[in-house]
Amino acid sequence: MIVGFLCFLIAIGFVGAQTETFRFANYYADSMVLQRAPARLVLWGYVPDCRSVNVNYPDYSFNATLEKIPGKTYCRWKIDLPPAKAGGPYTISAVSGNEGIELKDVLFGDVWVCSGQSNMVFELSEVYNATTEIANAASYTNIRILSVNRVPSNSTLDEPPLTAPAWNKPSSTAINSFSAVCWLYGRDLYDTYKVPIGLISSDWGGTSIDKWSSHDALAKCKQTDDEVKAGLYPSNLWNAMIHPFVRFPIYGAIWYQGEANARPDEADALYRCYFAEMIKDWRLKWYEGTDKQTKIDFPFGFVQLAAEGTEGNKSAGYFPGLRWSQTGGQGFVPNELLPNVFMAVAMDLGDPTSPHGSIHPRDKQDVAIRLSRAGRAIAYGDTSLYYTGPLPVSAAITDLRETISAKIMYRNVEDKLYSFSKYGFELSCKERTGNTVSWIEGTLDTVMNDYVTVSFPRCPAGDAIGEEIRYAWRQDPCVFKKCAIYSGSDYLFPSPPYIIPIREHV
Ligand SMILES: *[C@@H]1O[C@H](CO)[C@@H](O)[C@H](O)[C@H]1NC(C)=O
Ligand SMILES: *[C@@H]1O[C@H](CO)[C@@H](O)[C@H](O)[C@H]1NC(C)=O
Ligand SMILES: *[C@@H]1O[C@H](CO)[C@@H](O)[C@H](O)[C@H]1NC(C)=O
Ligand SMILES: *[C@@H]1O[C@H](CO)[C@@H](O)[C@H](O)[C@H]1NC(C)=O
Repeated sequence: MIVGFLCFLIAIGFVGAQTETFRFANYYADSMVLQRAPARLVLWGYVPDCRSVNVNYPDYSFNATLEKIPGKTYCRWKIDLPPAKAGGPYTISAVSGNEGIELKDVLFGDVWVCSGQSNMVFELSEVYNATTEIANAASYTNIRILSVNRVPSNSTLDEPPLTAPAWNKPSSTAINSFSAVCWLYGRDLYDTYKVPIGLISSDWGGTSIDKWSSHDALAKCKQTDDEVKAGLYPSNLWNAMIHPFVRFPIYGAIWYQGEANARPDEADALYRCYFAEMIKDWRLKWYEGTDKQTKIDFPFGFVQLAAEGTEGNKSAGYFPGLRWSQTGGQGFVPNELLPNVFMAVAMDLGDPTSPHGSIHPRDKQDVAIRLSRAGRAIAYGDTSLYYTGPLPVSAAITDLRETISAKIMYRNVEDKLYSFSKYGFELSCKERTGNTVSWIEGTLDTVMNDYVTVSFPRCPAGDAIGEEIRYAWRQDPCVFKKCAIYSGSDYLFPSPPYIIPIREHV
């Protein structure tokens, strides 16, 4: 009886020691951007002793709901408030008992999450023209940035690892080491829409996609529950660096990752599954986590794998397969497997002398402008914008007399096709048994408004012409911006790499 009573006191003392102060969750901080209308404004935090909490916004007072946390004496408070139009700065204050807390200099705009591996980590200070880019950044006071610290976790966290101040204006010290692609993408959006932009950079060099995927997403692909439980793929960056934000309404996400999965066992079917399932899962988790204030199909943009190696690398390697998987095996997005998904092609932006290795090109400006153009079309509905590059519609063998001639028709051409190289086209050859055994390289002959003709040498003796033509199927398909097929003003948009069945034979 007495022993039992002592244990009770000790237990109370222990729980009391884990108390919380009255506060907002750690990513609600001064100088932040909150997602504008039509999303409702979602705020949450902690309060000791489950005291009632009132939020003042803008001139009204609202009561927060309180959620008990098992085993704790404090509560999570939460509130969602009427949507706000783009603008600011505002002060939002919350009161509990005689304590008050405040968020100052808050803007309403669009919040984007930027994630991936080293090419997303790649700092603004490392790009071409870094000095100018950094100097220009400071004038964008309506863009606010947040960087998540790189700390993994084996279980899902409610708050991400952050260093205060969580949100910053893009001063030269703050922007210097911020993700270049994230920044340049957000800046392009701001320049177009003049709406405050919040950028959350949550990325880690060398990381494979399974680290950023929840157990739920992984279980849809290779993973059995047993493997997941055994911690073989601990989802540890999803847990610590993405999951905490699912209670925070966002507009969309961009992604630059894949190098770490460009391996023989992962680049093809597995990555295709991982990528589509991760996107679906992020969308569902955010939709549920924000009480439907983030769209169930929020826009998701990505950069297709860059070039690696020295120009004209003869090796196909595993990058082409991974690039193909990033489009769900269709060569373009959005498509029915990847709805509301957009991409920037980067395979022609190789940088063999990059001080950070050829896998880390310094030209992030072209990556960002291609991505933001696609984002404006897909995420913001500016459907008149050209953003895809030419896409193949059909391939036919038209002549077999001297050499093999093929005609490839394109759609999504703005005005006309442009060409800067004769190379990159390959025809499959197959043994009489039907197995594809080799690819032969062709040469571009003519470039018309919406089709090209290519000639190929003969297939190896004894082999027949196979069933497919592929394009840019190399780690590093061409010299900087000099691939075979482009369209758009300033030849900005390359044809993405493709593999297409031959429809007709002469
Ligand atoms: C609402 O806020 C007021 C003022 O702080 C408080 O007295 C009241 O208990 C709160 N109501 C609820 C349901 O929490
Ligand atoms: C996380 O899980 C991995 C794999 O099971 C294990 O090796 C590691 O020690 C765990 N880390 C922590 C901090 O528990
Ligand atoms: C060409 O790419 C392969 C990978 O497919 C790589 O192993 C090799 O180092 C590259 N060669 C050059 C010269 O970059
Ligand atoms: C760097 O600046 C020069 C001069 O303005 C410009 O011509 C060039 O395109 C810029 N490079 C990039 C990658 O933006």
